[in-house]
Amino acid sequence: MAAIDEALLKLTEKALGELDQTDDEAGLENWRTEYLGRRGALTEHMRSVGQLSPEERPAAGQAANAAKARIESAFGERKTRIDELSLDRQLEAERIDVTLPARRLYAGGLHPVTQTLRRILEIFRDMGFQVAEGPEVELDKYNFEALNIPPEHPARDMFDTFYVNPPSVLLRTHTSPNQARIMERVPPPIRVVVPGRCYRYESQDASHEWMFHQVEGLAVDAGLTMADLKGVLVAFAQRMFWPEVQCRFRCDYFPFVEPGVDMSVQCPICRGKGCRVCKMSGWIEMLGAGMVHPRVLRNVGYDPDAVNGFAFGMGPERITMVKHAIDDIRLFYGNDLRFLAQFN
Ligand code: PHE
Repeated sequence: MAAIDEALLKLTEKALGELDQTDDEAGLENWRTEYLGRRGALTEHMRSVGQLSPEERPAAGQAANAAKARIESAFGERKTRIDELSLDRQLEAERIDVTLPARRLYAGGLHPVTQTLRRILEIFRDMGFQVAEGPEVELDKYNFEALNIPPEHPARDMFDTFYVNPPSVLLRTHTSPNQARIMERVPPPIRVVVPGRCYRYESQDASHEWMFHQVEGLAVDAGLTMADLKGVLVAFAQRMFWPEVQCRFRCDYFPFVEPGVDMSVQCPICRGKGCRVCKMSGWIEMLGAGMVHPRVLRNVGYDPDAVNGFAFGMGPERITMVKHAIDDIRLFYGNDLRFLAQFN
């Protein structure tokens, strides 16, 4: 066999053997440069055919072309195979196990005090009360003076006040200033509840927070009496707690009502039997209330001989604590999800 044919045979075997060893795109490309590139072994061989004598050239040329065709077609097949392999590898690497359990989604929930607030408002809305709101930064005039608490009045001691500069401005200590604000704006009859935050300058403990909520209630009309006050508040307690709950009214003092009362309900935890939550008394003090003082009516330009009203104020934190036997008010605003998430 001529030397050139022998060289071609070796070259072909080597090329095909190495082609079989390639197993990725980079290896295949290296192989291609080595044999089929412009300086590749096969290209060089074709060139050397040109150096042969005219007699030898046709046969060597034919053999070289045949070898080239064979190598190129082997290359094509290998490329197809490697493309398939690399797709398989990619699919394997990006595989998703759709049977794995889904990651749990944590949905937010309403704060327990918000839940109580909404329930309170819902009950009063059903009884024909409207909902209104007023400012948290309040004037002394509404927080105290309009409510029959003049400067130097000893009742100011009931409220430890955060004053703002100037001292005629303060953080409201209760929602009662809205009694005056509303009556000043609209003529009777009135039926309204006012939820909102209140602030008191107090040292914190298990039952005192410097920020808490109240819901104020006010009804004004001709001929309203204590019986209306009791009827509304008992109906409220029966829906808020349970239908047979007993309510107890006792005398209490607030400068802006006369007479003034506080209402207790049977303890929702023991239903009156006596337990830790009600300190064995069976009763829980729930709210302050009374008939709107004639002086308060006069202060807003109402005629106390033509209309009277009743008002009440309750604390949703306290109601929530009693309902769920929570023993520390500071838990509400400590933002500990272990506590808050229990109410979702
Ligand atoms: N504002 C009173 C308080 O904060 C509660 C109250 C409201 C009492 C309305 C009587 C009437 O203690």
